[in-house]
Amino acid sequence: MVSRVIPVEPFDLVIFGGTGDLARRKILPGLFRRFIAGQMPQDAQIIGAARAEYDADGYRQFIKQSLFEFGPKDVPNDVTEAFLSGLDYVAIDAKGTNGWPDLAAKMRDGHVRAFYFSVAPALFGDLAERLHSHDIALPDSRIVVEKPFGHDLKSARSLNATLAQHFSEDQIYRIDHYLGKETVQNLMAVRFGNMLFEPLWNALYIDHVQITVAETVGVDGRGGYYDTSGAMRDMVQNHLMQLLCLIAMEPPAKFDPDAVRDEKLKVIRALDPVSPHHLVRGQYGASSDHPDYRAHVENRRSRTESYVALKTHISNWRWAGTPFYLRTGKRLRARSSEIAVVFKETPHSIFGPEAGSHRNALIIRLQPDEGITMDVTIKEPGPGGMRLIDVPLDMTFAEALGPEVGEVPDAYERLIMDVIRGNQTLFMRGDEVEAAWAWTDPIINHWGETKDVPKPYDAGGSGPEDALMLMHRDDRKWREIR
Ligand code: BG6
Repeated sequence: MVSRVIPVEPFDLVIFGGTGDLARRKILPGLFRRFIAGQMPQDAQIIGAARAEYDADGYRQFIKQSLFEFGPKDVPNDVTEAFLSGLDYVAIDAKGTNGWPDLAAKMRDGHVRAFYFSVAPALFGDLAERLHSHDIALPDSRIVVEKPFGHDLKSARSLNATLAQHFSEDQIYRIDHYLGKETVQNLMAVRFGNMLFEPLWNALYIDHVQITVAETVGVDGRGGYYDTSGAMRDMVQNHLMQLLCLIAMEPPAKFDPDAVRDEKLKVIRALDPVSPHHLVRGQYGASSDHPDYRAHVENRRSRTESYVALKTHISNWRWAGTPFYLRTGKRLRARSSEIAVVFKETPHSIFGPEAGSHRNALIIRLQPDEGITMDVTIKEPGPGGMRLIDVPLDMTFAEALGPEVGEVPDAYERLIMDVIRGNQTLFMRGDEVEAAWAWTDPIINHWGETKDVPKPYDAGGSGPEDALMLMHRDDRKWREIR
């Protein structure tokens, strides 16, 4: 059963970059779903703000098209119109004065004020400054900022400093949409809501952890951004790092923003630097139906990686000796994200060497087919002695929780509602982002300094051969991407 919907307080949400891709594909369709679910109060006001000269009606028509394309299907027209009637628009100049008095006039007293900066980070400072100089932001207003939050530690520090001139940390919501995914939150529920796992959750019992985020998509259409970023900045520094934190952190005393983020920060700070021998980067080649990576970017000799695999350790009492293997890549065999917590073998096999080696594994599948599987060793049924096999105890959420589970909100819906509620638990704190860059920077710098060329890998495969070797050398194996 999906939990019941509790309407949020009346709010004014201003989306800077209101005509952009993120607004069209994610933010507005997400808000529309919350409207349909009954979570948005009647007098909620959503204001698109961008350079384009729309009037409110023109903007509503523009967004209507996006809702058809990216929103829920088969919604009665009157419901769509009711949602659109809560939309307004201001043509605004982020670096000038145009539009700001109009925006100020539209804000309503008594409403929560939230400002979504869905624009290039170079504009964050201008927006923040004008929200104050035009008396639009109040002491309890919130701003939402998207990744990439900086390009490296230096730029992330400077962005944090810019925002801090106008907003306090408890007003800043840095989005990592992986934290809004249902199963990612389930990680915390599984770990801290059950007695079963926590006593075994350490280096004494856990052989290794592998985290995989595999995608089938390439960088088509986003080559300009992606080529300056690469998989390390685009996925590892944020999404994979967050998954690693949730798996490895100590139990926070309570499920509240600072308690959770303090524990995540300790994990990041305890991460060992990654040795170049434990790093693999790749770039996808062409397949029969898709061109290679370089066809999507300007630089035909680009050395940007579309794949990363690495091994790292967390130097603390709980995890010393347990390696964490991370991999992510584009144009791989399947869209499949999962975390596998692989336990050690039993200390002694009473069944003798012929029973083979067996390890329990807890698999948390993030997408698709969200669920949890526990590989358990049992006797192979039938006569003929004691042969052991591993079988999965499977809890696919869609089956276990009934058909309504299909209705769970997507990451953006949940996160935007959390902004309105003023709950920062699923958002990154400034120091957390900086610590993640401090760990990632030396890796990226090493690649630059050594002019490292990513290994080519087959589109539709499971990544470069060297990534298989990374595990193989340790007598371990990646789980199949499927
Ligand atoms: C984004 C990255 O943050 O996450 C994209 O910029 C990536 O490159 C996407 O494709 C993956 O998100 P999801 O939710 O589809 O796993």
